This record gives sequence, structure tokens and C-alpha cells, in this order.
Amino acid sequence: MNKLALLCRAGFEKEVAGEITDKAADLGIFGFANLKEQSGFVIFECYQPNEADRLAQELKLTELIFVRQMFVVGELLQNLPEKDRISPIIEVYQAINPILSSDIVVETPDTNEAKELLTFCRKFTVPLRTALKKQGWLGAKESSKNSVSLHILFIGSGKCYVGYAYNHNRSPFLMGIPRLKFPADAPSRSTLKLEEAILSFIPTNDEKKRLNEQMIGVDLGACPGGWTYQLVKRGLFVYAVDHGKMAESLHDTGRIEHCSEDGFKFQPPKRKQIDWLVCDMVEQPMRIAKLIAKWLVNGWCRETIFNLKLPMKKRYQEVKLCLNYLEEELTKQGFWFNIQAKHLYHDREEITVHIAVMGQK
Ligand SMILES: C[S@@+](CC[C@H](N)C(=O)[O-])C[C@H]1O[C@@H](n2cnc3c(N)ncnc32)[C@H](O)[C@@H]1O
Repeated sequence: MNKLALLCRAGFEKEVAGEITDKAADLGIFGFANLKEQSGFVIFECYQPNEADRLAQELKLTELIFVRQMFVVGELLQNLPEKDRISPIIEVYQAINPILSSDIVVETPDTNEAKELLTFCRKFTVPLRTALKKQGWLGAKESSKNSVSLHILFIGSGKCYVGYAYNHNRSPFLMGIPRLKFPADAPSRSTLKLEEAILSFIPTNDEKKRLNEQMIGVDLGACPGGWTYQLVKRGLFVYAVDHGKMAESLHDTGRIEHCSEDGFKFQPPKRKQIDWLVCDMVEQPMRIAKLIAKWLVNGWCRETIFNLKLPMKKRYQEVKLCLNYLEEELTKQGFWFNIQAKHLYHDREEITVHIAVMGQK
């Protein structure tokens, strides 16, 4: 097994190919990215033996922007016999004897055609799990060092990749997609973007410390209020900046002030220390990156989540330019900071970025 399967939103395969090729090369690992447009996955074939395994351990999934899930796989298994799909899969695993495996996950790429297979995947998991246990596998604790989860990716009926992912470096969600429920009282569906961002970027144990009633937020491009809703729900007071109209339900909370202003000109009200800046304005990505850098460098906020809209062709290149710019600006000012970027499930032609400033030299 010397390939990596990388799951993504359909239509972003080229971004994944560019990103995995770059980031593997940073670790001295070279290979070839095989992709089919709109397939929702990429297979990265490493040139040297055992390197896919090294990538699965060392290349942090949280640092891959366009990848939702990552696991090591072997050759594509084809023409699995309808009467016994399990034996060929067991045979593949026998070659690696996965005694440190904790569970089995059977998934598909996130495309309409592949998703039709999901019911099959769910049903197939049950007898497969029993068969794997019989082999003495799936007994490991998820938390034990170097433990893995076995992953099977069905890309058609009778066609699948068989492999494994390290438990310390995989998404806990099926297909890397968190299932979030739309809150009935939220003003817009984009509320789910900020909810997923908070879930992805802020460890659950830290959430109360990082987002609470003592804090003030600014939401640039706030209307009708889906993002503001998430901050208010966590207790923050929010300056909602937009020429549009905010949902009445948010005014009723008494926890917002609507500022009908240009988000590029807005400055924090005097004597108010803003903790959080969020921004969902539809604008050129570099213009947003410069605005965010201005807020952080001026010390107007400590932590931020914002979207970079990517309607252009060379999306990965554009993202690199913006992230490099932000890193350089913050480094020049002697900031210690943490930056994460992810193409979230609820993002379409955009990515979400989180920056937390921890201090300054
Ligand atoms: C995608 S919507 C934001 C949706 C919002 N995050 C929500 O969850 O409801 C983008 C918003 O940005 C606002 N916007 C665009 N350019 C702006 C600017 N220069 N200043 C303030 N708001 C702006 C638009 O009026 C629009 O309401």
C-alpha cells in the first residue's frame, strides 16, 4: 500500500493535487496525483516504498486546506464478486496484518452518483466488521499510540480502495463531513459555515474560554445575521457591520449593535477591546487578507475567522498568496500566531481561515 486517498468537495480535485504535491515535497516525499475532475477524490501515488504511510502520520490533516479525509490505500479492487465482497478485502488486509486497528469505516466520495452507494456501505459495514474481528483485528483502543481505523472507499458497485488512517490524524466524521443541524431560529443557512469553523478550529474543551459572555465581536458583512447568531449564541456582544438589514430576532436579544457602514472603513468603537473579528464579505481574497492583517496588526482583535471567496480558476495559488501575505505581515510585527485554513463542508467556492494571535515579541 503506497498511495494516499484524499477526499474533497467535487470540483476541487486540482486544488488537492497541487496541495498534496507541494506539502509532500516539503517532507521530501515525491509522487504523482491521479485525478478525475468532479470525482470528489484524488489518489496520490508515492514513488518510494512506505512513503504513503509516512505522509499519513506526519502530514497533518488539519494543515491540508482542501482535504476532508486522508488514508493510505493500495491498488483499486475491481469486480468484487456480488456474493462475497468480503474475502478479497480480508486478503488485502492480511498482507499488512492491522493488529492496531480500532474500527472500520466504509465510505464513498461526496458526489451524487457515489452517494447512492451509501446505503450499501452502511449495510456492508456490519458483516465486514464481524469478519475483521474474527481475524483478531479491530481490538485496539482508538487512543492507543499508532492505532489506525480501517477505511474502505467505494467508488462504484464492486469497486473500492482498501486502506487505513492513523487515528491521531483523521477526521472522526464519515467522509470527513460533520453533520450539523440547521438551527430553526438562525437567520440564514450560512450560520452553518461559522458553526463548522468553530467546531473545526477551536478544541471543544477551549470553546467556553475562547468565546463567552465577557467578549465582544465584530461581524463584517453581517446581514442577515447567520454568523452574528453563532457569536450571540455563545454569549458575545456583536457589532454587526453591513448596509443591509439584520434579522429582528437578533435585535431582540439586546446583544447586537447594527452599524450600517462599509466594512472596509469600520473601526472598533473607542475604548472597546474587540476579542473576535468575523468576516463573510464577498470581495477579492487579497482585499480581505489585507483588511484582516490591518485589524490584527493594529491590535483591534485577537482572534478571527473569515472567508476567502474563490471564484477564480487558480484557487490554490490565490489561497497561497493570501496566506503567505498574512503570515509575512504578522511575522514582520513579531507576532506569535496560529493560522489554519480549511475548505469546510459548508463552504462552496470559498475557504475559511482562522487566526489566533498568542502574543508579540
Ligand atoms: C454572504 S453575505 C453574509 C452572510 C452572513 N454571514 C450571514 O451569515 O447571514 C455578505 C454580506 O456582505 C455585505 N457586504 C459586502 N460588501 C460589504 C462592505 N464593503 N461593507 C459591509 N458589508 C458588505 C453584503 O451586504 C452581504 O450582506
